[in-house]
Amino acid sequence: MTKTVLAIPGDGIGQEVIPAAVRVLQALLPSVRVNWAQAGWETFVETGRALPSEVLAQARAADAVLFGATASPSGRVEGYTSPILEFRQRFRLCANLRPVRTWPAIRALHNEIDLLIVRENCEGLYIREEQREGEIAWATRRVTQKGSRRVAEVAFQQAAHRARARGRVSKVTIIHKANVLNVTDGLFREVALEVARAYPHIATEERLVDAAAMLLVQSPQQFDVLLAPNLYGDILSDEAAGLAGGLGLAPSANIGEGTPVFEPVHGAAPDIAGQGIANPMAAMLSVALMLETWGYPALAQRLQDALAQVLLTGRVTPDLGGAATTEEFTQHVLQRL
Ligand code: IPM
Ligand code: MN
Repeated sequence: MTKTVLAIPGDGIGQEVIPAAVRVLQALLPSVRVNWAQAGWETFVETGRALPSEVLAQARAADAVLFGATASPSGRVEGYTSPILEFRQRFRLCANLRPVRTWPAIRALHNEIDLLIVRENCEGLYIREEQREGEIAWATRRVTQKGSRRVAEVAFQQAAHRARARGRVSKVTIIHKANVLNVTDGLFREVALEVARAYPHIATEERLVDAAAMLLVQSPQQFDVLLAPNLYGDILSDEAAGLAGGLGLAPSANIGEGTPVFEPVHGAAPDIAGQGIANPMAAMLSVALMLETWGYPALAQRLQDALAQVLLTGRVTPDLGGAATTEEFTQHVLQRL
């Protein structure tokens, strides 16, 4: 079956890394159909919609979305919602997979990291029910049994998959702060432990989020799969990526009911946008996740092997200490495919 991907470069370096990643996808899977669309902050400024309804319809009809980055304002702008948040909510993409690993020849703060953060992606504090009354502001944090079970199932399935692929026992670390937030995080924890009982061959442990943040810095190798509520997962995934060589290497998959959305974890990087030196690796690794999700693990592996080979040559972009442009790096990867 021909697969269709909707490529949405978005803002800033998204315009550079997404076309590069699409070329790699086309080289691996020549039958793929690629449609292009625009969304993001610039689209909002031009059209009044960050994610126009035609784009949403195109995304719905596709087998995957490959999304670049958006330059969101940090203050509230009337009518603006980050497209990625809208995709997650509308398509019910309630699990966010964020694999983090070290790579040969790439300087990292630790060696031999190989972990996967499974982040709850639809609820928690991200329901954005915030209010302000004069001097007081507050937010609602919603945790449901259904939402917690859904993401816990994904985490344990991923752990089972990793156990098979790596030929060893896998472990899920449940992240929470149930000592303080004993109702909301208490529910998340309770449901996760319940799901764990259906996976007796997978080791389970729990960590308070603050302790987990420290242990990640000290010895990230002890982690395998981390199951985390939305905001904790957001924070820990940037931390883990930073330990393993930076956001330039961090891909992600938003999966759930509707069309899955794959995106590099990094943002629009306006400081280097337009210079042709952005690192397309996270976008390419997001393509690898897409290929895996579509059931082409061998193609995903080929892409990862090609990337590893290029890294060994040192012909990498400036963020990784090299002098290659986005175009040169992409050429090197294509040659090795
Ligand atoms: C991420 C990003 C998003 C998030 C922002 C852009 C809304 O930081 O994908 O991690 O907070 O989820
Ligand atoms: Mn984030």
